[in-house]
Amino acid sequence: MRITFSLQRFDPERDHAPHQEEFRLDVAWRSTTVLDALIRIRQEVDPTVAFRHSCRSAICGSCSMVINGRHTLACKTLIGPEIERHGPTITVAPMRNLPVLKDLAVRMEPFWQKVRAVTPWLEQAGGASSTAQAVLTKETRSHLHNVDACILCGACVSSCSSLEVSPGFLGPAALAKAYRFVADPRDGARSRRLTMLTQPDGVWDCTRCNMCVEVCPKDVQPMEAIVRLRRAAITDGLTDTIGARHITSFTEIVRQEGRLNEGRLPAQMLWRHPAALLAQLPLAIKMFVRGKVPLPWHPPLDSIRAIRRLFGRWGTPSSWTN
Ligand code: SF4
Ligand code: SF4
Ligand code: FES
Repeated sequence: MRITFSLQRFDPERDHAPHQEEFRLDVAWRSTTVLDALIRIRQEVDPTVAFRHSCRSAICGSCSMVINGRHTLACKTLIGPEIERHGPTITVAPMRNLPVLKDLAVRMEPFWQKVRAVTPWLEQAGGASSTAQAVLTKETRSHLHNVDACILCGACVSSCSSLEVSPGFLGPAALAKAYRFVADPRDGARSRRLTMLTQPDGVWDCTRCNMCVEVCPKDVQPMEAIVRLRRAAITDGLTDTIGARHITSFTEIVRQEGRLNEGRLPAQMLWRHPAALLAQLPLAIKMFVRGKVPLPWHPPLDSIRAIRRLFGRWGTPSSWTN
């Protein structure tokens, strides 16, 4: 079957902006992957097309790109389902949220810098000279929740909505890697790690859009790892951050009134930080003028006892465990 591949081309030495270029190829569409087709285009049509690949088996993580708008591995993407869903033209673009090097290849340095920033190795309890035996048992291994399956392909980073607007955000891959060591009972640096991860650009910058979970080819579920890191931080007393204050204030209001009281939330979150509370005043005035300020006093719901029983049973964020 003759398929059209529309590839994003960009040569920084020649082009001012990226553009699409079409290549037509006869392929056995049921058994050919997008990576197979790209390799053929490079071998048979244009040897200058740039892209990364190695294992061709979804192991090395080097062939991530955006195929028909999906952030995925080219070696794992069969052409058949793509043309069934999108028609006989397959559009291929480089990963997003990373600078393009050439055509479909991106610069990975920002990605690796963030992975390095979370200290992606075990810091043995008692220091490097400790002779204590470190064993990861089957039971303690279950705490890792599959994060050690990450192949560092970057598909999650490409899809991340928070990174699009905050390039400094550590991002899903680095945070999943960070969780891998926070959850490892052999690691001796939990406190230092969590302190670092709760700074600006850390765990609280995730908007929980779930994109990283949807695109991950290894079911690592980075967003779930980020949620566990948040819980771990609150459990360990790292509660004086805007994100932690939001969660603890939110749940405390629901515990008291049975529902969220948006009129109380900013004051409850920020009363220890008057400057930050005052900074919200212009927005509050604008909302008041437009009739959008919710009343700060609500009578508790009739079902408040049942809700408090739930809190009695499940606790509050500071008592939750990973
Ligand atoms: S978490 Fe998944 S998508 Fe992200 S780098 Fe690891 S394997 Fe790739
Ligand atoms: S859930 Fe968070 S980390 Fe994952 S893609 Fe969305 S904003 Fe990024
Ligand atoms: S070539 Fe290795 S993951 Fe695709």
